[in-house]
Amino acid sequence: MNILAPSILSADFKNLGKQLTEIAENGAEYVHVDVMDGMFVPSISFGMPVMKSIRPATDKVFDVHLMIEEPIRYIKEFKEAGADIITIHYEACKDVGATLKAIKDEGLKTGLSIKPKTDVNVVKEFLPLCDMILLMSVEPGFGGQKFIDGSLERAAQLKAFIDESGLPIDLEIDGGINMDNVSAVLDAGVNVIVAGSAVFKDPAGNTKKFMEILNSRG
Ligand code: DX5
Ligand code: ZN
Repeated sequence: MNILAPSILSADFKNLGKQLTEIAENGAEYVHVDVMDGMFVPSISFGMPVMKSIRPATDKVFDVHLMIEEPIRYIKEFKEAGADIITIHYEACKDVGATLKAIKDEGLKTGLSIKPKTDVNVVKEFLPLCDMILLMSVEPGFGGQKFIDGSLERAAQLKAFIDESGLPIDLEIDGGINMDNVSAVLDAGVNVIVAGSAVFKDPAGNTKKFMEILNSRG
């Protein structure tokens, strides 16, 4: 099943509750929550208190993308704030394995993300600890950037590693996804689609359009 994970970074925060209802009603199964610390990435977004306060607005899966240095420090707090999946960055951790284990120990699903210039092979040794791999198709930090050419090949390589492992691991992509390139991304083997700016200009209408494409591709 293909899943849409709208990134609330592009949402209208004064209407967030309403927009969460709109994306859920039109078929989005995940809510992608981008947490930025101003260190791992240049920008700062929001943290636990905001997540906690929006958690009751939807029963959908909170797919939390931590763009923060040494996320192992905050796993418990993000669980308490309502995370279902916690994705950490390979580049942000001294001990990637220990960080993934800490997420599992909290009973949550794990995701491991790599930036556009990171060798795809680095994820291999961690696959047994992962429920999801997140491929960044823009440099993390901001919504509304252009999809980096070459990301499709990288997605296909990651999909091949996952298939070779025989493990039930999802492949998610994040950055610059729109209605024009999403089909090619699905064809490369991705099954969880993050989209921010391409959804929140019209949350209900665009979620519906994305879901028509996602559902038509199985
Ligand atoms: C970027 C974030 C993305 C971003 C996606 O660092 O991780 O989730 O919000 O936004 P779009 O879909 O507009 O590229
Ligand atoms: Zn993200």
